Amino acid sequence: MIEHQPQQTDIRIAPGGSADLDQVIALMESAFDRRFGEAWTRSQCAGILPMPGVALMLARDGGATPIGFSLTRMVADEAELLLLAVAPAGRRRGTGALLLNHFLEQAREYGASRVHLEVREGNRAVKLYRSAGFSAAGRRRKYYRGSDGSEFDALTLSRAL
Ligand SMILES: CC(C)(COP(=O)(O)OP(=O)(O)OC[C@H]1O[C@@H](n2cnc3c(N)ncnc32)[C@H](O)[C@@H]1OP(=O)(O)O)[C@@H](O)C(=O)NCCC(=O)NCCS
Repeated sequence: MIEHQPQQTDIRIAPGGSADLDQVIALMESAFDRRFGEAWTRSQCAGILPMPGVALMLARDGGATPIGFSLTRMVADEAELLLLAVAPAGRRRGTGALLLNHFLEQAREYGASRVHLEVREGNRAVKLYRSAGFSAAGRRRKYYRGSDGSEFDALTLSRAL
């Protein structure tokens, strides 16, 4: 578990689906800086959502519009965090940690023995992942390509459950 204590406790997490794609894409566009090329396209999201083991979770703080989401995949005995994002106006209130903890619980329930994720080297989310027990497992060179063509390495982080 992450030691971080949410400052707001009325954030709720619920499953989403293809019908939520418009809101998820809007959230993703506000959350990810285009300079780094980490955001997924609408067609990437729409393509992966119906696949077995893939789950979209939405975080809301009372309103209809989600303030955060995670996209995850459980395959064989492993689980992967594909995307995690919180709207800029809703950050540092524990939503990212809540979504991450929820993923870890789901992965445990599913029976995964390890969880993985990829994150751009230098992304401040690395701190969140490290405090959740993830450690470096590898590096993918030039994995992300930003809007100006700059390339960035991805760190592969993992932890046992
Ligand atoms: C990463 C992200 C999801 C964190 O969401 P959040 O709701 O702000 O996260 P939390 O409030 O749960 O923060 C948990 C902890 O993570 C760390 N953290 C999160 N954002 C941080 C930042 N900008 N700088 C430093 N540490 C940060 C801190 O340790 C924080 O605890 P604290 O607030 O007590 O210091 C959000 O910043 C985001 O959407 N970023 C853009 C998308 C992205 O890069 N996603 C990750 C790669 S897929």
